Amino acid sequence: MRLILLGPPGAGKGTQAKRLEDGRGLVQLSTGDMLRAAVASGSATGRRAGEIMARGGLVPDDVMVGLIRDRVAAPDCARGFVLDGFPRTVGQAEALDRMLAGAGAALDRVIEMRVDGAEMVVRIAGRFSCAGCGAGYHDRFRPPERPGACDACGGSEFSRRADDEAGTVAARLEAYRARTAPLLPYYRERGMLASVDGMAPIDEVARQIAAVLDGVGA
Ligand code: AP5
Repeated sequence: MRLILLGPPGAGKGTQAKRLEDGRGLVQLSTGDMLRAAVASGSATGRRAGEIMARGGLVPDDVMVGLIRDRVAAPDCARGFVLDGFPRTVGQAEALDRMLAGAGAALDRVIEMRVDGAEMVVRIAGRFSCAGCGAGYHDRFRPPERPGACDACGGSEFSRRADDEAGTVAARLEAYRARTAPLLPYYRERGMLASVDGMAPIDEVARQIAAVLDGVGA
């Protein structure tokens, strides 16, 4: 099964992709995580990407397509994958189509996570993660059970993403509207698009995604 989760910043793509990885064995391919790893490595690609991410812009298509091409060809992806954050432009979607066709494969579904822009700012501004193990939390929706201590590893250091600052979030939402939202008609015209209510509680969103996947025989 090869899936795309499509939605604006904060829609819950990463949250649901992780559930699909844990529950269905699909490999989560998060281009945001790949880029943050490149930034942390200090590579030339990471330095270039980091400047763009800090402004809330989109990293050029050739860089992103190169990252994904290597990853989807890796042996673990043979069991299926869920793309979280890719494609983000029509150029990336066309490159993905060519890449999969070249491997004799195809997408099974593109799932749009429908959400409200104002709520997205609340979701993003409140999130943080454990600096030790990466477990994710939210000030309002998912605080640690014991304040100041990670539920998973007991660590006491937490971090917030640099691009979750309000001005950058506005730029990320605008990039989605201008450059990623055109993917909705792109996939609708190809009969690939399904929608779920991304404003529902996390378990309910997961249930709606499961219903979509059951409908395509996954
Ligand atoms: P990326 O890391 O992909 O960020 P994003 O798309 O902006 O998405 P987020 O990770 O912010 O949100 P999400 O939808 O995954 O939501 P999450 O599950 O975390 O990209 C970062 C940057 O990298 C981009 O700005 C760009 O510069 C660059 N980039 C990446 N890919 C690129 C590409 N292909 N091309 C070019 N540039 C690229 O949830 C958010 C919060 O809400 C969490 O706290 C979560 O717990 C909570 N939450 C989730 N679901 C619910 C729910 N149903 N109810 C209540 N709370 C919820």
